[in-house]
Amino acid sequence: MHTLKTLILDDETSITNKLHRYLTRKKFAVFCANTPQEAFQVLIKNKIDIVLCDILLPEMNGIEVLKRIKSTNPEIEVIMISGHGDMDTVIQAIRLGAVDFIRKPFSGLDAQLAIERTGKYIKLQNRIQSVENLNSLISRELENLIDQECIGTSEAIQEVLDLTLKAAKDRDINVLITGENGTGKEIIARIIHFASVRKEHPFFPVNSSAIPETLLESEFFGHRKGAFTGATENKKGCFELAHGGSLFLDEIADMPYSLQAKLLRAIEEKKIKQVGSNDEVPVDVRIISATNKKIKNLVKDNKFRLDLYHRINTFIIDVPPLRERKDDIEPLLIHFINFFSKKKKKNVPQISKNLINKLKKYKFPGNVRELKNMVERALILANGGILSEEYFPLVDHTLEPVKAKSKESYNFEQNEINLIKETLKITNNSKVKAAQLLGIPRYTLVRKMKKFNIE
Ligand SMILES: Nc1ncnc2c1ncn2[C@@H]1O[C@H](COP(=O)(O)OP(=O)(O)OP(=O)(O)O)[C@@H](O)[C@H]1O
Ligand SMILES: [Mg+2]
Repeated sequence: MHTLKTLILDDETSITNKLHRYLTRKKFAVFCANTPQEAFQVLIKNKIDIVLCDILLPEMNGIEVLKRIKSTNPEIEVIMISGHGDMDTVIQAIRLGAVDFIRKPFSGLDAQLAIERTGKYIKLQNRIQSVENLNSLISRELENLIDQECIGTSEAIQEVLDLTLKAAKDRDINVLITGENGTGKEIIARIIHFASVRKEHPFFPVNSSAIPETLLESEFFGHRKGAFTGATENKKGCFELAHGGSLFLDEIADMPYSLQAKLLRAIEEKKIKQVGSNDEVPVDVRIISATNKKIKNLVKDNKFRLDLYHRINTFIIDVPPLRERKDDIEPLLIHFINFFSKKKKKNVPQISKNLINKLKKYKFPGNVRELKNMVERALILANGGILSEEYFPLVDHTLEPVKAKSKESYNFEQNEINLIKETLKITNNSKVKAAQLLGIPRYTLVRKMKKFNIE
């Protein structure tokens, strides 16, 4: 780490001169200023790490100087020099982000110790920062690995994708994605982000139902050290962390009513206040929300604010349940088979035609996620063999009710033909096994096959 550079701002030249001499002798890199303007000039020209700042100054008091430093160079740590046992001002300074204070009169050694303490703190902060950077790098790489592909050939999903790309084209429009569990809302949200000009910035998902209510405000807006018990460090909230990118508010309907007003304010004004601070921080994020609930009903029951609802739903994308887009079942099935086979380094198995028919009759209450889980399980059970319907046990009561059949489907002969064909298929064209299954002698089967011209 480089030698820390300290700037001393005090209007009394006797103090700055004395400290300069003392600290230089101790091999510290020291700059001095006797007015705030001089200090700002030094800050512009040098990369200062620590400022020792007097409270009583000409032109502008120390609190104002502190605020200005923290707004332009938040990484600089400020140690206040208090003159008259002015504890109220010191407390105010600490709230505003000062790291420490020393009381006048003080010795060169007092100053040295305060600077060294702060130096240790800066070192620790840097270490935390580098870990955080590494983490965000890792999560960005992970994000790139995550499949952002939205599979589906049905008209319904193509319409959804069309809307998704339209939403992505606009940098700022807030999007609300609705749909049952597991329909692919998060995939849509990711596509909106990664297909937009914000893609180099974070895609930041937050699920408010997964966070204790008492911590939510800090989670969203961050907090200053000491703002509440347990706030031992300054912390940025997800609005600031998503700056430039997209904030994905998953399960928005579960957002506590008390927080909704604050969220609305942040979205409208594009500014936030950290818990324990009065400073407004500008934030630039696109809000993408998702819900599986009917928010309109929640508004009626006074559980969701109407004004917030209007803010987040500028553009609505409704993802239909899988049972309403049956054409997607086959491509999704194939996609997941390939996906898991590759992941588990296995050969891609064949699938039976009956499997797709069976799945198309199923209601999929858990939608695409349910299908995905089913495939993973079936691949394990089939263990490299043909993926047939027996590995996809479906709960019967979720099968669709039998529809009134067409006239031909009551035709006896046609049903006989279909049944024979189906049985032969299942038994791999073994006439012995097929006859057994049908409960008829083998020669009867052969006769019927001849009669109906079945190969
Ligand atoms: N069209 C699709 N193509 C490929 N994978 C999909 C598709 N739709 C959903 N999936 C997969 O299904 C799973 C569920 O999707 P996702 O998490 O996006 O659903 P969701 O609507 O957010 O669900 P929930 O409401 O439970 O949060 C994910 O693993 C996702 O990759
Ligand atoms: Mg989701």
